[in-house]
Amino acid sequence: MERKVVFSGVQPSGGLTIGNYVGAIKNWVDLQEEYDCYYCIVDLHAITVPQVPKDLRQNTLKVLAIYLASGMDSEKSTLFIQSHVRAHAELTWVLNSISYMGQLSRMTQFKEKAKRSEENLNAALFTYPVLMASDILLYQADLVPVGEDQKQHLELARDLAERFNNKYSETFKVPAPLIQKFGAKIMSLQNPEVKMSKSDTDENAYILILDKPDAIRRKIKRAVTDSIGEIKYNDDQLGVKNLMNIYSVFSGDSVETIENNYQGVGYGKFKEDLAEVIIEGLTPIQEKYDYFMKNKDYLEKIYKEGAEKANYAAMKTLRKVYKKVGFIQP
Ligand code: TYM
Repeated sequence: MERKVVFSGVQPSGGLTIGNYVGAIKNWVDLQEEYDCYYCIVDLHAITVPQVPKDLRQNTLKVLAIYLASGMDSEKSTLFIQSHVRAHAELTWVLNSISYMGQLSRMTQFKEKAKRSEENLNAALFTYPVLMASDILLYQADLVPVGEDQKQHLELARDLAERFNNKYSETFKVPAPLIQKFGAKIMSLQNPEVKMSKSDTDENAYILILDKPDAIRRKIKRAVTDSIGEIKYNDDQLGVKNLMNIYSVFSGDSVETIENNYQGVGYGKFKEDLAEVIIEGLTPIQEKYDYFMKNKDYLEKIYKEGAEKANYAAMKTLRKVYKKVGFIQP
């Protein structure tokens, strides 16, 4: 029996946060045992906002090193760079032809980004979710492990798959999102009502996977809580709830256990312990990351092999698509 397919990706735009780690990357590791996994570094997505070319190149390698350091294994999974597989851009063009402007303009992330970057409201930002659908559909993915913020994009990918299948006959697998119960939405440490994001202007709002212990301790110490003073998991204490989520995913303890362990204990001690739990989780990744970043030849070997494997799978789907829409074979 053929193994089911998993696809996911991260944008190489600046440092990755523990939100990216907990909401996505961390969950990808175990899937490798059971599924055919494609883990992509989505550089085509990254240029929807301004990038410095030299930094983009460097950040792309950094994300690959983080993948490997987090436990992604090129023997088990296909690790590749999006722009190395031309089919992503090509399928996007075809899917653009069945995408409705109205539906794309309702995408929450587009609306938010549009508000923030009015001077750079480019067309790629608008069709970004179509590119994301192409990523997924090219590999006939069954499952897409992502954080909560990508759910709407996943729904669009499903819609496009179904629309294409109805119009041109069965072609694409309709993918399902895989979203964790805890940690699927890590919030800003400074404002627990908004998502933790690397594009936040306040660097105390996020912890990066590569942050050193001192920075982690400082940021957690400054994290916003409340004046209630109890470690309780509820929506009246969004700051504390967020910190408990982070504690839970890094330590493996349930939120009930955390509540029990910290009964009658103040926020100070809880925050100190939380910082240590995060440091303990990130240190081995950082050590491996340093090792991989010193081995650029190895990284190059990984992404080249990955591109070859990804290209083979993607072209199979793209050829079908081109045939169905009526393009003459070259
Ligand atoms: P990106 O690069 O913004 O984020 C990568 C992954 O991290 C998750 N994530 C979070 N999870 C929990 N809490 C947070 N604060 C948090 N911030 C980010 C995201 O949900 C995501 O899973 N469009 C995508 C990348 C992409 C993709 C794809 C993903 C392109 N093509 C195909 C899956 C399949 C994005 O911008 O993710």
